[in-house]
Amino acid sequence: MEVLRIRNHLQAEKVGGQLFVFNEVGSTNDVLRELIAEGSDADGTVVVSDSQTVGRGRLGRKWLSPGGMNLYLSALFRPQVSPQESSVFTFLASCALVEVFSAYGVDAEIKWPNDILVGGKKISGVLTELGTSDGAVNYLVIGIGVNLNLPEEFIRREMEDISEKTTSLSILLGEEVNREKFCAELINALDRFYGEFRRRGTQAIVDMWIERWGFVGREISVDVSGEVISGVVERVDATGFLYLRTDEGDLRKVITGDTVF
Ligand code: BTN
Repeated sequence: MEVLRIRNHLQAEKVGGQLFVFNEVGSTNDVLRELIAEGSDADGTVVVSDSQTVGRGRLGRKWLSPGGMNLYLSALFRPQVSPQESSVFTFLASCALVEVFSAYGVDAEIKWPNDILVGGKKISGVLTELGTSDGAVNYLVIGIGVNLNLPEEFIRREMEDISEKTTSLSILLGEEVNREKFCAELINALDRFYGEFRRRGTQAIVDMWIERWGFVGREISVDVSGEVISGVVERVDATGFLYLRTDEGDLRKVITGDTVF
């Protein structure tokens, strides 16, 4: 991936103002944190890599990151939010991803809290990490992995237990995707939603996410460290908590876990 080829398609105001592209890194989230430590900490800085040797997923999982196929991107945001509100940036990234997929004619679904699926199969995930000082958010690193040109054979061969639940944009479209263009479109979309956040605040992003997610008022099951909690979603607050009304009538507050289908 080349910086200029990405820049050619950029229309962003803030996100991607500083753009670093690598061939191989451990994890783009870590590289971004190193850059921040060295003072390259402008709001909207983006790191992209062709491959990652130790790509990370949520909850300590690994994110398989072969070269030449996918997108691994981390974006730095420096908003005025409390640490509890940082989930809003996971929501912001999910909204941006859904919008970009839709421009490719692909109807993507959000799986709470941070997976993007198409036809029940995962195509993208978001890993939000934060740096705090004195209890306040200093920075947020939003790491996004997107399966772009991952072929079926690769998924079958390398992804064993999750192969049935994984897809890529090229599989869905039946053709190769231009990764630089997709990358720029994602940066543009992140920039638009970040603009919305700056103009209209946290709740506006939560509301946009809720609309795209579509599960308020519906029953879902969430696996929280092995305990499955089922209930009707009453609401989602600005900190990303889910409020589930169980069959027994209790209101359970859930912050993290995995939706079970
Ligand atoms: C998940 O679904 O568990 C989140 C996956 C996040 C993967 C991305 S790829 C770019 C960034 N760097 C990482 O090491 N992880 C995120």
